[in-house]
Amino acid sequence: MLKTPARIYFKREDMSPLGSHKGNTALAQAYYNAEEGIHTLTTETGAGQWGTALSMVSNLFDIDTTVFMVRGSYDQKPFRKTLMNMYGATVHASPSNVTSFGRKVLSEHPDTTGSLGIAISEACEMAVGDDHTCYALGSVLNHVMLHQTVIGLETLEQMRIGEIEPDCMIACVGGGSNFAGFTFPMMYEKMRGRSDCEIVAVEPEAAPSLTEGEFRYDHGDTAGMTPLLMMYTLGSGFIPKGIHAGGLRYHGMSPLVSAAYDSGMLSAVSYDQLQTFEAGVMFAKAEGIVPAPESCHAVKAAIDRALECRATGEGRTIVFCLSGHGLIDLHGYGQFLDGTMQSSAL
Ligand SMILES: Cc1ncc(COP(=O)(O)O)c(C=O)c1O
Repeated sequence: MLKTPARIYFKREDMSPLGSHKGNTALAQAYYNAEEGIHTLTTETGAGQWGTALSMVSNLFDIDTTVFMVRGSYDQKPFRKTLMNMYGATVHASPSNVTSFGRKVLSEHPDTTGSLGIAISEACEMAVGDDHTCYALGSVLNHVMLHQTVIGLETLEQMRIGEIEPDCMIACVGGGSNFAGFTFPMMYEKMRGRSDCEIVAVEPEAAPSLTEGEFRYDHGDTAGMTPLLMMYTLGSGFIPKGIHAGGLRYHGMSPLVSAAYDSGMLSAVSYDQLQTFEAGVMFAKAEGIVPAPESCHAVKAAIDRALECRATGEGRTIVFCLSGHGLIDLHGYGQFLDGTMQSSAL
């Protein structure tokens, strides 16, 4: 379809019954909480993929889950709430009336679409009120990056079996977990001089923490309840536009990904949502797979690299992470196809 000499491979996290890579860390986090006698977990969710994953695996350990889902996504994707309810979770649109921080935000901004930062504050507030309730975060923190390295370790092993040498590895970044999980094992190879693979992080123009943020200490949430994290940030009060890639609407970036970016281990690029949905539709036509709006960012960057190869005649090997499927995002695809989707610049 691209008429390129490049070869494109993708690592499939969309094949998980939970729909995305988020189960890799949900399982570990629920397990360790159960070991510590925790009976309830609270969390935030943007796109709904993380909330879905945690809601389901909590059943394996007899844990109740309460999910604060960013209002914009809650309205765009009603089936996500149904899915989390099926798995037994309680779901609130954030900002909500069930926490004092949520009520404060609602009184100041009654029409807000919310943000991951606000939803995290609400989930933290609910957790601190009870000794047997803990908060679980779906991205950003070091343990989440660690759990997700199963993606990159599997990819390297699959590449080794297939005798494939990647020239370029690409993943989208929200809080950084599928990117870190996919690329950190390769970065280890680079640091040892065993590969010179290019590594690219892809973010939305609506929340460009790497390409336009500052590298400094900031809170992971809006109310300032989390510890300070050294990271690329747009400021913890930043409310991104209501783009469909809800999982990428985050003001900050994982401290580990931020440190790697600061030391020049990777490059970053940002795209408008119209560009990423166009790439997602092209990918669906070529492969039959509907990528999550977040994953479309990686698809778009892979297409652009492959088109560069068409211009230069280079046969590079491009590998990207397909972090999730978009079967519950068809409303967004529908808007793209009927021309009612807005550019993130508007
Ligand atoms: C399918 C998918 N990909 C990517 C992301 C972004 O998160 P992270 O940067 O932690 O991988 C999300 C977050 O919700 C997601 O659902």
